[in-house]
Amino acid sequence: MDNNILKNLPLKIIIETKKTLKKAISANRALAKLNGVAKIIPNQNILINSLVLQEAKDSSEIENIITTHDELFRANLDISDITNETKEVQHYRQALLKGFEFVKSNKLLLKKYIIEIQQELEQNDAGIRKQSGTVLKNAKTGKVVFTPPQNYETIQNLLDNLEQYINDENEIDPLINMAIIHYQFESIHPFYDGNGRTGRIINILYLILKNLLDIPILYLSRYIIQNKSDYYRLLQEVRTKENLEEWILYMLDGVEQTSLETIELIGGIDLLMNETKEKIKTRLPKMYSKDLVEILFMHPYTKIEFLVDGLNITRQTASKYLIKLEEIGLIKPIQIKNSKFFINSALFDILKKGMG
Ligand SMILES: Nc1ncnc2c1ncn2[C@@H]1O[C@H](COP(=O)(O)OP(=O)(O)O)[C@@H](O)[C@H]1O
Ligand SMILES: [Mg+2]
Repeated sequence: MDNNILKNLPLKIIIETKKTLKKAISANRALAKLNGVAKIIPNQNILINSLVLQEAKDSSEIENIITTHDELFRANLDISDITNETKEVQHYRQALLKGFEFVKSNKLLLKKYIIEIQQELEQNDAGIRKQSGTVLKNAKTGKVVFTPPQNYETIQNLLDNLEQYINDENEIDPLINMAIIHYQFESIHPFYDGNGRTGRIINILYLILKNLLDIPILYLSRYIIQNKSDYYRLLQEVRTKENLEEWILYMLDGVEQTSLETIELIGGIDLLMNETKEKIKTRLPKMYSKDLVEILFMHPYTKIEFLVDGLNITRQTASKYLIKLEEIGLIKPIQIKNSKFFINSALFDILKKGMG
């Protein structure tokens, strides 16, 4: 049986209330500040690397896919023997980065990209639901709280409508739109699995599409984890009570809080990068280069190949560099399986702390 409750966008309810508009101003301000602050880091890949991984970790954790920072960082280094959870988080990261490339190069966030993003995330090509039976249950009671549309054509039509809403211009504040789009996407629930995570990737991509963010560094999922029961409750109340205002306020608050936290985190990384730079400049002046500092911050773990490739030096020279850097206390050696790595502990600690 098809469920006719879900209507096409735009919604007919008034969404720009005094409260949502007021909150939208402060959320936009925080986000704009974050977007500006990010530019103080000389190589944007440093932030993309660490913050996308963090968003991947937290967004997966909402779905009870749990991993640790250390394991995640190590997984990035191609050392086998990682858990399935960590693999899933890696796929999330790839899916987000793939989406980022789509939006950057096409300036559109099309349905077909969303399908590819979910495919990358889930590593299968099941695509849009064709079989009925998918329902949303309350995690505690097991009671069905919502039956998303079951008919393939209905789902496709709703997605076409959503695609249009995402890509067309309208008068509504983009952050408020992001909240509406997330509600609508989760309610369509177009896939057998991965809807929550794909929807949260869409949030970030939408902000990039609307030019509020240049790179995918807002990690909203941290806020959602910290306020998880409200997330489920408010998604549901949009449907049962037409309580759209509270849902919008929740998402706007999420943007504001995580923007402010990310600004702090970036400040910490910036400070540490400058200290590292000064230390190399004074203690190892012949070795100093901007690129060397960046390599040490590209990933909390460094290995000889990163220096060889990044600085165009021989293994021998690279090895000498690493010993010197260790001597002045910037990195610590660590043996993982058969490979030797060097950890930038100060960076590791900032990321771990900032990422909660
Ligand atoms: N009552 C609800 N109404 C609409 N969407 C909901 C509701 N409850 C949960 N959701 C969404 O469904 C997601 C879970 O769907 P699922 O396909 O299992 O995603 P994932 O595999 O990423 O966990 C949640 O993260 C949330 O976004
Ligand atoms: Mg799931």
